Amino acid sequence: GHPFFAYRDGQLFAGDVSVAQLAAQYGTPLFVYSQAAMRHALDGYRRGFAGHQVKIHYAVKANSNLAILQFFAREGCGFDIVSLGELQRVLAAGARPEDVVFSGVGKTRHEMRVALTHGIGCFNVESVPELHVLNQVAGELGVQAPISLRVNPDVDPQTHPYISTGLKGNKFGISHQDAVATFALAASLPHLRVRGIDSHIGSQITTEAPFLDALDRLLDIVEQVEAAGIPIHHIDCGGGLGIHYSDQLPPATETLWQKMFAKAQARGFADRAFMVEPGRSLVGNAGICLTEVLYLKPGEEKNFCIVDAAMNDLPRPAMYEAFHAIVPVQQASEADATAAVVYDVVGPVCESGDWLGRDRALHVAPGDWLAVCSAGAYCMSMASQYNTRPKATEILVDGSTAHCIRQRDDFAALVAGEILL
Ligand code: LLP
Repeated sequence: GHPFFAYRDGQLFAGDVSVAQLAAQYGTPLFVYSQAAMRHALDGYRRGFAGHQVKIHYAVKANSNLAILQFFAREGCGFDIVSLGELQRVLAAGARPEDVVFSGVGKTRHEMRVALTHGIGCFNVESVPELHVLNQVAGELGVQAPISLRVNPDVDPQTHPYISTGLKGNKFGISHQDAVATFALAASLPHLRVRGIDSHIGSQITTEAPFLDALDRLLDIVEQVEAAGIPIHHIDCGGGLGIHYSDQLPPATETLWQKMFAKAQARGFADRAFMVEPGRSLVGNAGICLTEVLYLKPGEEKNFCIVDAAMNDLPRPAMYEAFHAIVPVQQASEADATAAVVYDVVGPVCESGDWLGRDRALHVAPGDWLAVCSAGAYCMSMASQYNTRPKATEILVDGSTAHCIRQRDDFAALVAGEILL
């Protein structure tokens, strides 16, 4: 499923680089990303967008390493950010402020001020109180804030409840029924300039229908808002497209977007400026995490394969019971593979929730390396230093070149900012 990480003579490669060599050189846990895989994912969007005006705003939260952001900036992408820290990251990576949109339900006045001072492209506003605060902050600075309203289309994305965001019952966006009135309010506020509409209905969505339904609901609102005399410059469809972790078959980006534009066309909106905010679908399958087998611990009910990566490095299994494929760096021979044992793959952190995979058939010995797959999105960006474990090293492979894009935390990094009495 992940052609950018493939076996050659039984050894796992990222591009033209042997990942065993990387593990030996840099130690583990080690994240390895494939630049070719990221470009391939981008190309899927670009093909789907052919002939239309669409700007890709990479959702920084999926993987916020500076070099990854730099890659997307060089590819001509904008960015979807949700904090001052993410703004500082994208600026440090070479983004132009006008190519940045600012999402999130809890923007502070300080964040608004800094973003306005830099000349950010758009605020994706999520509530009426936020509109008033932004209007005030912009007024104090003597500027007009470009805004879009995030509308909650009340569409079920059929994904994990923790990562579905477009239903009535959650904290995101302005409800569908209040949308038109809220646009009228926004247009009446002197220090705001209405630019667009946006929605983001959830993440790891693996069917087309929720995207198409949400677009229909958005276009209904655009029609009404424009009938009320408020022009909508851009339509931002958010992110959320799922990736292949195990048996999911998400729609191909290109086909999905051809269908989206067929709908936009049918409704007379195909010549509009569109935006998207993908995160996972650009980086998720572009990364693996290498880990070393420390101990094998047979048990009465379960066998444990204890590895040196943990929930602090790869929080998704602990948080969402998410599945990540786990494969050997050196493929077992056929004879060995039949002698595989079923293990729970667990980390060294002192929590029962610290597991990376359950009931995995593996033929392994201490000292072997394993690769946790589909680890490019929401792994390193959600990593912590829990148990005072250093955050991992990250490598970006481009063909036969391996760039180290983050060094492992040392003790100084682990205690940075702390002050003894
Ligand atoms: N735009 C907005 C406003 C968002 O809230 C998100 C993600 C995205 C775009 C990007 O969505 P994506 O294309 O990556 O699905 N930590 C969870 C995922 C949380 C997603 C939060 N919002 C996980 O590991 O599955």
